[in-house]
Amino acid sequence: MTDPKRVAILISGSGSNMVALAESMTGDHPARPVLVLSNDPGAKGLDRARAIGIPVAAVDHRPFGKDRAAFEAALMDRLAEARPDILCLAGFMRVLTPGFTEAWAGRMLNIHPSLLPNYRGLHTHARALEAGDAEAGCTVHEVTAELDGGPILGQARVPVLPDDTADTLAARVLVQEHALYPAVLRRFAAGDRTPVLLP
Ligand code: GRF
Repeated sequence: MTDPKRVAILISGSGSNMVALAESMTGDHPARPVLVLSNDPGAKGLDRARAIGIPVAAVDHRPFGKDRAAFEAALMDRLAEARPDILCLAGFMRVLTPGFTEAWAGRMLNIHPSLLPNYRGLHTHARALEAGDAEAGCTVHEVTAELDGGPILGQARVPVLPDDTADTLAARVLVQEHALYPAVLRRFAAGDRTPVLLP
């Protein structure tokens, strides 16, 4: 058997998708987590990663101001130490420059809380409700220079309920994110890019 793929997970916040990914990478899984990296040293997800026993690091974006290239160079340095084969963005709230996305082309995934290509960017659930959509969901895609625009590797659909608010819808979509992202990563790490469709 070939060595498992080395996965670094990039977070900014609570890290619930990171936990779902990390906990899935056991047994005969074709990948294993080698680093959880945050742009926010105070991110709750770093504590959760430590508790699971994954090495953690933070590269605070704030001292870099508007110099995204310098921030990304610092990210790259930290990633180089962990030697990941695959990067998973999991609630990582920094826009990456083409320099970074091209360096990781075909090796970087993201989860986005909408049925792409609908609702790229922020406030996806509020926008879906405002549009009167009958269903919402989430998408895992390859990351390219185009924001939330790379090839789709999986989607999970969630019905919109009559009393939904952006928060209740987000909570139900998040449950599906935790199923979808591990399912896509398992396939992707095994070299299979066939989209995963849930439920
Ligand atoms: C998720 O909804 C993800 O889709 C979005 O940010 C949220 C992150 O949640 N990009 P968590 O940090 O994984 O709990």
